[in-house]
Amino acid sequence: MQIRELLNISRVIPVLELDDTATAPDLAEALCAGGATVLEITLRTPAAFEVMEVIKNKVPQAHVGAGTVNTQAQIDRCKELDLAFMVSPGLHTPLAQAALDSGIPYLPGVATASDMLRAIDLGLDTLKFFPATAAGGTTMLKALGGPYGDIRFCPTGGINSDNCEEFLSLDNVLCVGGSWVASKSLIKNHSWEEITRLASVVNNPVR
Ligand code: 3PG
Repeated sequence: MQIRELLNISRVIPVLELDDTATAPDLAEALCAGGATVLEITLRTPAAFEVMEVIKNKVPQAHVGAGTVNTQAQIDRCKELDLAFMVSPGLHTPLAQAALDSGIPYLPGVATASDMLRAIDLGLDTLKFFPATAAGGTTMLKALGGPYGDIRFCPTGGINSDNCEEFLSLDNVLCVGGSWVASKSLIKNHSWEEITRLASVVNNPVR
């Protein structure tokens, strides 16, 4: 599956920082029940790769990808685990080239017009916009849509229940990413029903 196809599956990609393999399947099930089947597990905990393996094995409907991919070694491990996608916070040409060479769908982050030029040079047309609210939010995305009308984005960073619809209403936004649908406190309290509800609200908006 190409990265653009993946980003069309769900209107929200939960960004998850997990250190507990025991509860990870319940969490993944809760998110999938709300229609959020594309899960970004950030490489910010020592257990992240193990968590991804567990979710892949126990929750087959989930598309499990790695976030915060910053090094070649991490790309190699993602390849070994046959992950569904990889996300980086920024765009560094050698790392992005290595990610593309891996064959795993890749979503690097951009925040400026210069970042966009480098993305286009690599043949990329689907990007993370990060950190979305700090880097200009919907105003910036609309402005980037002028010169770069064919590029599609997954804004991430500072997105929540209150502002997600504003991002999702833009023509150049495919989905949003964020931790609010499964915050650390919701996970700690095993609030699986609330996590399902938060994901469902984004995926089934009242129009
Ligand atoms: C990310 O890792 O992509 C972002 O830090 C998620 O941002 P959020 O916690 O503001 O949703």
